[in-house]
Amino acid sequence: MSRPRDGVRHRIGALLVVACASLAAATALATGPFPGIGRPATEREIAAWDIDVRPDFLGLPKGAGTVEQGQEIWEAKCASCHGTFGESNQVFTPLIGGTTAADIETGRVANLRRVDYPQRTTMMKAPYVATLFDYIRRAMPWNEPKSLSDDEVYAVLAFMLNLAEIVPDDFELSDANMATVQARMPNRDGVTTAHAMWPGGGLPGSSSAPDVGGTACMSDCAGEVAIASVLPDYARPAHGNLAAQHRRIGPVRGIVTGDDDPDAIDDPSPPALKRARDAGCMACHGIANKVVGPSYADVARRYRGAADAVDQLVGRIRNGAEGVWGNLAMPAQEDVSDADAREIVAWILAGAPER
Ligand code: HEC
Ligand code: HEC
Repeated sequence: MSRPRDGVRHRIGALLVVACASLAAATALATGPFPGIGRPATEREIAAWDIDVRPDFLGLPKGAGTVEQGQEIWEAKCASCHGTFGESNQVFTPLIGGTTAADIETGRVANLRRVDYPQRTTMMKAPYVATLFDYIRRAMPWNEPKSLSDDEVYAVLAFMLNLAEIVPDDFELSDANMATVQARMPNRDGVTTAHAMWPGGGLPGSSSAPDVGGTACMSDCAGEVAIASVLPDYARPAHGNLAAQHRRIGPVRGIVTGDDDPDAIDDPSPPALKRARDAGCMACHGIANKVVGPSYADVARRYRGAADAVDQLVGRIRNGAEGVWGNLAMPAQEDVSDADAREIVAWILAGAPER
């Protein structure tokens, strides 16, 4: 797009901002610049949207909750996806772990500098306790966002902070003591605005220099790209064929793995387990642990000895199911054939052996 048009767009944008401001101020819509279009947002509508809590605690609602109360909420509403100790189940990234008492002293998480450290947990990265509060309040639990009261958010956050050994077992987190917790956040000093991606520049310590040190090659450039990291062998078959699961357009494509993987190491899993992986079942089901859906061990326990269990379960897998195990539904698994579904169900009912 050419420069002059950009200029015009900006001027129109500025006009719109002025127009919106005056619209909100106007009492009678008919006199606004766009008569009959829309209406000013009400105070309550704005309040429902305007829930952000800033790192300096602006926007933090009054409230309190204890570690103990938080544990109950965690077990009922968070552990199924994030693990009993925030270590996560096999699908979601871990929230807790990787921080130490020394990090709480220094304000920098030492494991973040280790390339051999296997995971970066949320608690390792989060510099601001207020951001955790904000995120949980607006987005979690994933299946029921905004269903927690403010006190419940305080409680569940207190429990997470306790898991990370930032606060003691008998702690009550509240708006009044968030600042003392902030002073103990393991990665509180691990954040910087001194890089060119921070907008605006003008902040103390900020810089307009790029935070990478490469020089753009403009002529005679090397034609070959060296790939510096690959999916390790043991992880290749873990989630079926990644190529078939990723979007086929745009820059993100999965590599071929699972049963279709020419480079895969010998996978000793029974065929039914491989089928379940390829069909994407393992994204929501664990063999021994509840993920989004029930564990296969629990399914086997529930239907042991039931006469028509295979037909029933194959039907529910292919048509979708809800209400048997909780309030999350299983979408219809239309891509799995009747024969494959039968094989998987027979294997589940046999106790879902991994070898
Ligand atoms: C049904 C699964 C599910 C449940 C239940 C759930 N979460 Fe999550 N949680 C997720 C997913 C998925 C993400 C990542 C979302 C994203 O990146 O958009 C996430 C992200 C988070 C994050 C941010 C992680 C990060 O580093 O960005 C926090 C904190 C969190 N959840 C806390 C909670 C708490 C507290 C509860 C219980 C009140 C809860 N979650 C319940 C699935 C779940
Ligand atoms: C998007 C997540 C998701 C996927 C993918 C998924 N399931 Fe489920 N599954 C669930 C949920 C949630 C339930 C519990 C539904 C309920 O409460 O009735 C469930 C229930 C089940 C049950 C128990 C049904 C009952 O009536 O007791 C079986 C067996 C099962 N799934 C097998 C599979 C198989 C095999 C696949 C792959 C072909 C699969 N699931 C894929 C989420 C999933």
